[in-house]
Amino acid sequence: MPDKLKVALLGCGVVGTQVARLLTEQADDLGARVGAPLDLVGVAVRDLSVPREGVDPALLTTNAEALVAGADVVVEVMGGIEPARSLILRAIEHGASVVTANKALLAQDGPTLYAAADAAGVDLYFEAAVAGAIPIVRPVRESLAGDTVRRVLGIVNGTTNYVLDRMATDGLDLDQAVKEAQALGYAEADPTADVEGFDAAAKAAILASLAFHTRVSIDDVQREGITSLTADDVAWAAGTGHVIKLLAIAERNTADDGTEGIQVRVHPALVPADHPLAGVHGAFNAVFVEAEAAGELMFYGRGAGGAPTASAILGDVVSVARHRVLGGRGPVESSYADLPVLPAAAARTRYQVRLEVRDQPGVLAQVAAELAEHGVSIEAVRQTAAPDADVARLLITTHAASEQALAGTVEAIGGLDVVRAVVSVLRVEGA
Ligand code: NDP
Ligand code: HSE
Repeated sequence: MPDKLKVALLGCGVVGTQVARLLTEQADDLGARVGAPLDLVGVAVRDLSVPREGVDPALLTTNAEALVAGADVVVEVMGGIEPARSLILRAIEHGASVVTANKALLAQDGPTLYAAADAAGVDLYFEAAVAGAIPIVRPVRESLAGDTVRRVLGIVNGTTNYVLDRMATDGLDLDQAVKEAQALGYAEADPTADVEGFDAAAKAAILASLAFHTRVSIDDVQREGITSLTADDVAWAAGTGHVIKLLAIAERNTADDGTEGIQVRVHPALVPADHPLAGVHGAFNAVFVEAEAAGELMFYGRGAGGAPTASAILGDVVSVARHRVLGGRGPVESSYADLPVLPAAAARTRYQVRLEVRDQPGVLAQVAAELAEHGVSIEAVRQTAAPDADVARLLITTHAASEQALAGTVEAIGGLDVVRAVVSVLRVEGA
């Protein structure tokens, strides 16, 4: 049994600072839980001159390569692809166990890292990479390993949930809400990764891989962000008993040709106001899992922030450190099912289509004819007056239709002389 375990920390920003603090403040408890003391031996950063609250300056180094070579456990919270990937691989080569929060790297090149960890017989844990503090990686990978997951539906990006919540509750427009999220430290100066759905897509790829025992990369995820949403869309959603959420969805599906596979997508969607995900406010995250035997499960909590994310990381550190003390490795990701990732066009969802049309006889019939022509079944139609006397607003809710059929329908409807504008097309999920 080792008399102590050397822990190397790569990165000391929002998350790393909190990891260093908890490793120091809780050293006695962590040592007792692991069965050997955890010794923070160094913290790699870019800039040694930046003050790091609560972190002993003597631990800071810019030589990350040397740091990982002598560690038992390496915690990677630098982010980005390189040099994080090379450093993790180097750590694994040297026999270290690795804990990372780097969803971008895992979603792009996870299999390379998993294979390296398998070859070296070490752990590679990443609970913090999906939904911050919320235990979701472990439940999907381990607790549900005896079940068949049908669907994962989640709010996995706190920034966009905050933005959409502010638009819904106070009528802010998107730019105002994003600025507010930046001022509160949720969104970065460049909010692209959050508002364009890249962050959620990376998390969706990781969750889908675990849930369906299939390798899914970020390139397999159909992605649409929230930047085209308006305050008007959000207000309309409320008027129809819905809220708009940016959802990450991974589900088993059957393509038109009978191929069984999975679909993974990130997009804004209307969620019924009484669905549990509709009650997720502010920067919180929640993941709803549907499994054959377990039924519906929901995981809820803080999906971002230094301390919440550090909590998930420390949980992983304790697990991998225990394995080093007791011998062996923890459960690994599996990809035996190797299900095909079905094309986005085959996804089937209900839709709400908002139109502005001429208010004259026969218009509804023309619109309905296009829906019928494309095999899209109408669930409900609502007409309301528009400010212009000869214009009406139509809200069409469809039954589940394929994305391909819906796209064709909308294009055809948009081309009708009687249609002044296709105002919005939104998917309806969770009904
Ligand atoms: P920050 O940008 O706040 O911190 C990154 C840290 O890594 C900084 O200390 C930086 O050094 C250091 N770093 C970056 N590049 C290098 C390099 N080439 N060599 C040495 N040090 C380097 O990021 P976060 O703490 O916010 O995020 C870290 C990781 O955690 C990311 O993968 C992120 O996706 C993930 N994560 C973050 C969450 C959050 O709420 N922030 C939530 C869940 C996951 P320096 O300070 O000198 O610039
Ligand atoms: N930017 C992410 C969010 C946190 O807003 O949820 C890191 O995953």
